[in-house]
Amino acid sequence: MLLAARTMEKTTAAAMTLQAGGLDVQPLELDITNEGHIAAAVAFVNSNFGKLDILVNNAGIMVEAVDWAQNTTIGIAQGVLRKTFDTNFFGTVAVTEAFLPLLLKAPAARIVNVSSIMGSLFFHAKPDSPIYDSKPFAYDSSKSALNAFTIHLAHALKDTAVKVNSAHPGWVKTEMGGEGALLEISEGATTSVELALLEADGASGGYFHLGKPLPW
Ligand SMILES: NC(=O)c1ccc[n+]([C@@H]2O[C@H](COP(=O)([O-])OP(=O)(O)OC[C@H]3O[C@@H](n4cnc5c(N)ncnc54)[C@H](OP(=O)(O)O)[C@@H]3O)[C@@H](O)[C@H]2O)c1
Repeated sequence: MLLAARTMEKTTAAAMTLQAGGLDVQPLELDITNEGHIAAAVAFVNSNFGKLDILVNNAGIMVEAVDWAQNTTIGIAQGVLRKTFDTNFFGTVAVTEAFLPLLLKAPAARIVNVSSIMGSLFFHAKPDSPIYDSKPFAYDSSKSALNAFTIHLAHALKDTAVKVNSAHPGWVKTEMGGEGALLEISEGATTSVELALLEADGASGGYFHLGKPLPW
């Protein structure tokens, strides 16, 4: 198993923690907005494994100063939009496209795009939905765009064994989710793990939270 993070220091420290728990984890330096890192990561996987079975696109940022109860749309800085999309959309697309040849070499690869319920246009448009009054525009629209990538890539791969899905982890106690979140980190990982281990008859081109489909 490979564990990627933006710097070698971070990924080595995280890998050591998991190794201490008995897991076979190797650190990989990968800032998903860095073309050189992406090319080096693909070359590393190619020369060491010759294929990639599972790609979990977990990296994501929320740069708007939030208060989740705000609508940041009017007057949003172009820089905020571009920075958010660089990671949440363009970086994720670039990494996935770069690894696609190795994913196609695996017998039945799985791609998990870690999205968010905040990317759901259905829930944003519905006045009685739990996210109706929570509108960080850059973050939300970047996750909607990521969901579009899931649907389009799944269609492009529909005649292969590769499955691509979007995951909503839930509100999780991470740096982004904060202390007040409902789920522990292990619970937040459940949806990604389920989608990473889908059987041959599992879904592709879907959007899920804990086994249940979400409306786009
Ligand atoms: N927490 C929630 O409640 C929640 C809810 C819905 C969806 N999500 C999604 O779940 C995913 C994980 O979020 P989280 O809650 O764990 O957030 P987090 O605590 O802020 O962690 C995000 C991780 O992404 C990494 N990252 C950011 N930019 C990157 C880049 N350019 N290249 C590589 N790695 C990068 C960060 O690395 P550094 O440590 O170097 O900054 C950090 O490790 C995200 O996609 C997020 O949008 C989270």
